[in-house]
Amino acid sequence: CGIVGYIGKNNTTKILLDGLKELEYRGYDSAGIAVLNKDKIDVFKALGKLHNLEERINNTTTQDSYELGIGHTRWATHGQPTELNAHPHLGEYSYVVHNGIIENYKELKEELTALGHKFVSQTDTEVIVHLFENYNNKLNDTTKAFHSTIDRLEGAFSILLITKADPTKIFFFKHGSPLIVANGNEKEEVLFSSSDAPLIGLASDVVYLEDGVGGIATAKGIEFFNDNYSWSTLPTSKQFAQKDGFRFFMEKEIYEQSDVVGDCMLGRLNDEEILFDEIDKSLIEGINEIKICACGTSYHSGLTASYLFERLSKVKCNVEIASEFRYKDPLLTKDTLFIVISQSGETADTLEALKMAKAAGLKSLVVCNVDNSSMTRTADATILTRAGIEKGVASTKAFTTQTVVLWMLALYFGKAKNVLQSDKLQNELKALREVPKSLIIDDKIHEKTKRLSKRYLHGHGFFFIGRDVFFPLALEGALKLKEISYLHAEGYPAGEMKHGPIALADPELFTIALMPENLLYDKIKSNVEELSARDSTICSISPLKFDLSDDFIKTKKTDHYMLEFFEMLIALQLLSMEISVRLGNDVDMPRNLAKSVTVE
Ligand code: G6P
Repeated sequence: CGIVGYIGKNNTTKILLDGLKELEYRGYDSAGIAVLNKDKIDVFKALGKLHNLEERINNTTTQDSYELGIGHTRWATHGQPTELNAHPHLGEYSYVVHNGIIENYKELKEELTALGHKFVSQTDTEVIVHLFENYNNKLNDTTKAFHSTIDRLEGAFSILLITKADPTKIFFFKHGSPLIVANGNEKEEVLFSSSDAPLIGLASDVVYLEDGVGGIATAKGIEFFNDNYSWSTLPTSKQFAQKDGFRFFMEKEIYEQSDVVGDCMLGRLNDEEILFDEIDKSLIEGINEIKICACGTSYHSGLTASYLFERLSKVKCNVEIASEFRYKDPLLTKDTLFIVISQSGETADTLEALKMAKAAGLKSLVVCNVDNSSMTRTADATILTRAGIEKGVASTKAFTTQTVVLWMLALYFGKAKNVLQSDKLQNELKALREVPKSLIIDDKIHEKTKRLSKRYLHGHGFFFIGRDVFFPLALEGALKLKEISYLHAEGYPAGEMKHGPIALADPELFTIALMPENLLYDKIKSNVEELSARDSTICSISPLKFDLSDDFIKTKKTDHYMLEFFEMLIALQLLSMEISVRLGNDVDMPRNLAKSVTVE
């Protein structure tokens, strides 16, 4: 989702619309703006792409000029993409736009409903505006009411709020999703946006808000609630702005993972269970087996999922590379649920595999990042990963969200089949909730991968090794490195090295060992010892220091192996990117590859 805001003498609706156009890549299920003139607020909302909203605005007879306004483009998360659920959300006399998740919205909604507030949407956002009005009605002070509102919210929330009760102000707060506030180039002008692209050309002095910083903007200027902010100068190039200041799209996408995983889980995870509005219980009725088909990175998330399905849902699960599946005369039985995984939804081999399964009468499900793609139109059911547009050819955030969706699906299955004990389920849900945090990048890890990248440019190859889900992760780490550094790398099950590949071991063989504390630590340790004894150069990624490793990337200590999985994923992605940078390669568009392969 993306949010924009404007105070100034220029055409408010046009500036908001132009801003939303720049943010449209963040989601386009619906969009809306609320604009205010003295004590009159007008709101326009429309489903689908922005031109629908534009048409709606152009078709209205009111040609008022507005002093300020807020806008939002939405990628449906909590609640269906309907006009009612589109932002901005209204109370009695105020509007809010919001990015993030209000985790305690249910209890707040109950509390406010008991006080007589009427809710019209299914979104978590609506509680913000009602909470604000509840406090304002009591306190008769908009600033205090805004502070009290913020104090009550849990989760992630970047917000803009306008109110007839104080019609010259935009109240803002950032916690979680990005938010930028800018002084416009013209006098008495303030702008807001989720990313800097919409601000280019309109402003040059901006504050990239830190978490926990908010304030009040009027035409006279911006007043911050605390001192934790600093002004920066906006870049002038759009290309640069789209990268949000990162060097590459891949880097931006690696850093975005924490946020998009939050979006991906939104509305799908409650206190006791996993909810998927998009799947009907009949999809899993009578299912005794799961078959997953995918290509490339998506195949690796499928392989990860196969461990989770068997472990958590006790369903037989096998995974195949789509191009292999197509020509092997596969045996397909109707008690098999066919799952395809695809970022683009267009990969030819995966699409054809899906069509074959459908033709054989299997029920099908696609885990996909692009709605209305060929696969989402073909499969019986779709779960969208909500990663936002992925531009880097080397997939990062798509993989992360796919893996999270599949993990949730394994729990959903386990619960539906009654094979998951409630304390086990609780433990898994707790870990899932911590995934966004585990994906927040620690500067130290990034610095470390930069330093290490110098040492790993030569040699005769890399082995990435791991066990269990860390084997597919090893495959993914090796694929990332191959894709953008053009160095030879192989992912291998750690226990299998002794059956052949260990013959390659010497100091010029680099082993990246994934050593999670919470899963088979002793087993992987002895595998690494075997390699070390043959003089292989070892870089371990682990929360625990391992004496025999030559290099060490320290991940955080956690109590669930899947959290370690995501921590290690970040380290692998950064390491391959930094090696590619050092080699002077094109990180975002590596040679010979395409983002979406629509030919066989
Ligand atoms: C291409 C891309 C890979 C991707 C694979 C599958 O080869 O370069 O990054 O993993 O296709 O794509 P999909 O869109 O189906 O996930």
